Amino acid sequence: MLTLNACGSAGKEPSASEGGKLFNDPRLAGSVNASSCATCHPGGKGLEKAFENPKLVSVINACITGPLDGQPLEVSSVEMLSLKLYVESFGGE
Ligand code: HEC
Repeated sequence: MLTLNACGSAGKEPSASEGGKLFNDPRLAGSVNASSCATCHPGGKGLEKAFENPKLVSVINACITGPLDGQPLEVSSVEMLSLKLYVESFGGE
């Protein structure tokens, strides 16, 4: 069993650069297929307006459980918050 505990995990802060790694990682969230977020959103394609999306976290999880065939991330996990920061960084440019 893999249990991620945000309170107990020492010294890992969410960051956009960590999010970028996850975005390109085909193993994200237990995914066993070859796709990563970057497969369908290369260079942030389709995510230009994502920072305005009030349901951003659910949409990210929908892309994880759908095309990636992974397990949804805890909404307040370092992984999710990092991915969110990275996705938001495509906006407004
Ligand atoms: C198989 C292709 C595919 C993969 C893999 C994929 N997505 Fe998506 N994603 C889509 C499609 C299709 C949409 C809907 C696009 C639209 O609404 O025009 C979408 C929509 C989104 C949106 C909403 C954009 C908005 O404007 O609100 C976000 C955020 C997003 N994806 C993030 C991710 C993240 C993060 C990952 C990796 C965990 C990921 N996606 C993996 C295809 C994919």
